Amino acid sequence: MSKEVVYVIDVESGNLRSLENAITYLGYTVQFIRSSTDPALATANKLILPGVGNFGHFVNQFNSRGFVKPVLEHIKAGKSLFGICVGLQTFFKGSEESPSIEGLGLLDMSLSKFDDSTKSVPQIGWNSVTVPTYKDQGKTLYSINPNSRYYFVHSYAALTTPEQIAQLENQGWDLALSKYGEQTFIAAISKDNIFATQFHPEKSGIAGLKLIRSFLQQDKLTTIPEAAHTPSANSSNSTQKIEITPTGLTRRVIACLDVRTNDAGDLVVTKGDQYDVREKSTGGDVRNLGKPVEMAEKYYQQGADEVTFLNITSFRDSPIKDAPMLSVLKLAAQTCFVPLTVGGGIKDIVDPDGTKIPALEVASLYFRAGADKVSIGSDAVVAAEAYYESGGKLTGLTPIETISAAYGVQAVVISVDPKRFYVQDPNSCKFQTFKANTKGPNGEEYCYYKITSQGGRKVHDLGAVELCKACEKLGAGEILLNCIDKDGSNSGYDFELIDQIKGAVSLPVIASSGAGAPVHFEEVFKNTGADAALGAGMFHRGEYTVNDVKVYMREHGLDVRIDDETL
Ligand SMILES: *[C@@H]1O[C@H](CO)[C@@H](O)[C@H](O)[C@H]1NC(C)=O
Ligand SMILES: *[C@@H]1O[C@H](CO)[C@@H](O)[C@H](O)[C@H]1NC(C)=O
Repeated sequence: MSKEVVYVIDVESGNLRSLENAITYLGYTVQFIRSSTDPALATANKLILPGVGNFGHFVNQFNSRGFVKPVLEHIKAGKSLFGICVGLQTFFKGSEESPSIEGLGLLDMSLSKFDDSTKSVPQIGWNSVTVPTYKDQGKTLYSINPNSRYYFVHSYAALTTPEQIAQLENQGWDLALSKYGEQTFIAAISKDNIFATQFHPEKSGIAGLKLIRSFLQQDKLTTIPEAAHTPSANSSNSTQKIEITPTGLTRRVIACLDVRTNDAGDLVVTKGDQYDVREKSTGGDVRNLGKPVEMAEKYYQQGADEVTFLNITSFRDSPIKDAPMLSVLKLAAQTCFVPLTVGGGIKDIVDPDGTKIPALEVASLYFRAGADKVSIGSDAVVAAEAYYESGGKLTGLTPIETISAAYGVQAVVISVDPKRFYVQDPNSCKFQTFKANTKGPNGEEYCYYKITSQGGRKVHDLGAVELCKACEKLGAGEILLNCIDKDGSNSGYDFELIDQIKGAVSLPVIASSGAGAPVHFEEVFKNTGADAALGAGMFHRGEYTVNDVKVYMREHGLDVRIDDETL
């Protein structure tokens, strides 16, 4: 039997591979519609309009390719339309992000930027979504589960007041709402044949796949599943009250894979020297992609909120298009429906044959392979140094700027490798210092962190705070905060470092380096403002699963996403 074709509008605004993978996983095939002259546009019964990145850029692309008229006709004909993220935003009148650009205006309302005075912007993470309350008891729209969590990543939203909600509902819209901090916004809309979500169902694990399937099967009104996700339902420590974080987001747990080729030519995940990379080669020069891909899938199954792949030999010279990491991502993205990040080698490069490849193009290769974010390390240092040398000028040319302009700030993670230094007199130090909890080797009371590269061997004349601040200005969306002093120590994260960086930027911070046991995850979230925490060796060595960590966290009162639904 041939598979049903699902039509997806592609205005080349970003990576649609994850959506394609999700639809394929559900047993359909995807056909992209890239031009309004495509005859499929008039005959498709169901259309999906996904969008990422900048509102104005997306709407301009949508308009200039002639999609407005056929899509409005599609709606008028009563055929189904599903917008995702900026796709949803396009249904509104406009957005503060691009004031001169008009959306389709199906809803009489515009989008605004989240208030960043008390929370990180963009909102990146897993939030809950309410179901319209006036619906039949026990029924929900397109399988939206108020007990599940969905993955959001955006800076602009349809921020609503109770009056606006009532007004839109009077106009026939069903609204699912979320709260980011104190701000209520529209998470999903539905009216007749139109449906749209601000979150990314293709990145929301099983809950998201179920939602996509409901749309594809035109199951509009579905039964709300059992409240398997209610905090403490599976907890052995049920007296423990589960916190609600100030933002409403869960505490993210990220699994990180350091990937490299071993001597036998096999691709392996490694970590420090505790992982034996020297396996017996089975077939000489055949690259074995199994390991990183299998491990990523395992961590996804265990409940990782995100998987990060780092190329730890990215300093070598070889053609970028042959990088095995591209194949790893392609394969991993077929079965891991959570965000994937890739780092190592995201910079302007010169291929061995002399071809110059700008960082934006390198990043594009990874996005097209299935990455949602790229992590920039060494080039962030170069860009920050140039930023301070020029007295704070933005050239628009650094990889951080070019990639975030094209794919959005949420797609650019800065990987920071700080090392602690002590100082007697904070006034004699040009970097931001703080009073340390433990004194230095010579009784120094103050300390700061300097940026390192090459695994800590090279120390730059740049502070960690200063690097992060410059990168925020340049357009980074998130900080992956390692710590050379803690790396591989299994002794827990460096709270003082995390506090110092959180205090300096409004970007989400991922704590990294030092996790050796579930208690370290509990501690970092209870003692610092970290938005996410990353683990590697403890998972690779099989000492703990991601689920072990999450269950432990939940038992100790922390709000985590445990995706225990079945498709
Ligand atoms: C890492 O980057 C280097 C340099 O581009 C390349 O030789 C190597 O194949 C890459 N590794 C992976 C896993 O892609
Ligand atoms: C239950 O939670 C309390 C409060 O956080 C904690 O002290 C206790 O160790 C927990 N019990 C178990 C069995 O984890």
